[in-house]
Amino acid sequence: MNPAMEEAARKAAEDRLDEALEESFPASDSPAVTAFVEGGRVMEEICEFMSGDHDRLDALLARSGGAAGVELDEFASLLVRHMDWEERLLFPALSRKVGADSVASADTMRLQHEEFKRQIEALRRCPREDETLRRNLLGVLVEALSDHNFAEEYYIYPWIDGALDPAEKAGILTVMKTDQGRTSP
Ligand SMILES: [Fe+2]
Ligand SMILES: [Fe+2]
Repeated sequence: MNPAMEEAARKAAEDRLDEALEESFPASDSPAVTAFVEGGRVMEEICEFMSGDHDRLDALLARSGGAAGVELDEFASLLVRHMDWEERLLFPALSRKVGADSVASADTMRLQHEEFKRQIEALRRCPREDETLRRNLLGVLVEALSDHNFAEEYYIYPWIDGALDPAEKAGILTVMKTDQGRTSP
C-alpha cells in the first residue's frame, strides 16, 4: 500500500472508530476522548502495560495461525488472564471512581470478551483439514480483537489512567506484574 492509501485507510479507520465511540459510549466528551481527537495517544502506566499485553497476544495469535494446538492454547489462556485483569481489577476501579458513566463502556467490553471466548472455541473445534473455515474464523477474531483493543487503548485505558490515583494504579500494576511473572517463561 502506498503512503497516500495508507493515510486514507488510517483516516477511514479513525472515522469509523469515532462513529462507533459516539454510538457506544455516552461519555464521549471525556478528557481521554478529547485528547485522542486532538491527536495525542495518551500513554500512561496502565495504558502502556495493557497495550503491551495486547501486542504480545496479537503476536501469539499470528504465530498460531488459528490452528488448534499449543500456541492457540497459550494465546487463549493469556487472553483469559488479560480479560480477567480488566474485569476484576480495571473496570471495577474505574466504576468506583467515575460511577455510572463507565458502566455501559465496561459492559460493552465484557460482552465482547465473551464473544472472543466463543470464537476461540470455534477455532479449536475447526477440523484441521478445513483451511478455508479456519482462515475465516481467524479473520473474524482478528478483526473483532483489533476493534476491541483499539477502543481500550484510545478510550478505556486512558480514562483509567486519568481517573485513578497514582497509588491505586501502582497497586493494580503490581498485581498484574506478579501474575505475569508467575506465568511467563
Ligand atoms: Fe478487553
Ligand atoms: Fe484489553
